[in-house]
Amino acid sequence: MNISVLVTGNALQVGETAANLIAAHLGLRPSPILGIATGSSPLTTYAHLAQLRRSGHLDVSRTSAFALDEYVGLAAGHRQSYRSVVDREVTTRLALDPTRVFVPDGNADNLDAACLDYEAAIRSSGGIDVQILGIGTNGHIGFNEPGTAFNSRTRVAELSASTRGDNACYFPSLSDVPTRCVTQGIGTILEARRIVLVASGEAKARAVEQALQSAPDTACPASALQGHSRVTFVLDTAAAHLLNPATLAPMQHSSR
Ligand code: GLP
Repeated sequence: MNISVLVTGNALQVGETAANLIAAHLGLRPSPILGIATGSSPLTTYAHLAQLRRSGHLDVSRTSAFALDEYVGLAAGHRQSYRSVVDREVTTRLALDPTRVFVPDGNADNLDAACLDYEAAIRSSGGIDVQILGIGTNGHIGFNEPGTAFNSRTRVAELSASTRGDNACYFPSLSDVPTRCVTQGIGTILEARRIVLVASGEAKARAVEQALQSAPDTACPASALQGHSRVTFVLDTAAAHLLNPATLAPMQHSSR
């Protein structure tokens, strides 16, 4: 198993550890391409990346970013559209050049064509240098739900009932949560040169365990990451508590 696993004490330390790793990788490229995820998990990572930028340890002036996914059908400017979330949580906080930040279009007249265009844009940028990922409680990455083929590409997909339930907290009610999305495929995600997955809290422990310790299976989309050679999971102790150190090689613990 190729995946490196770093275990820290809490979500803040997850963010700090992941951000330091990401900044080091970005610093190796003249015009880095960052893959960004939404959700609560990467927020501490963005906060620490912002701190690194403010203190002069990270230059983002030539960084471009591609988001993983977007809901289909939310009105332009909707506070919970991933375009709005990315503007708020990533572009503004990291002071990225907004013209270099891309989010799939969930309102395109021709969604299939927009998906192909998004793939082409990633490819013509040179590809993702470092992809940040969260993980859903059902093991999804991006919005690739259980059952998604590991060679899937950017496409329109249905959200599972469990994911809609998990994300209902961001909407007035469950019925307001969109039923469809545009998401990079698992095959698209696996083309990133490096991947850093962040997870914290007990609710993610089962998904993390399946991703790392079960044989790769579409039942757990994140288990596809076992087929990539440069993946790091940065976890807090709660998210890592079901892992068996004896079955992980190499596994690095860095509890503080
Ligand atoms: C959403 C996003 C995923 C994210 C997941 C987990 O479904 N599409 O990219 O990883 O939620 O979210 P959170 O980090 O809030 O638990």
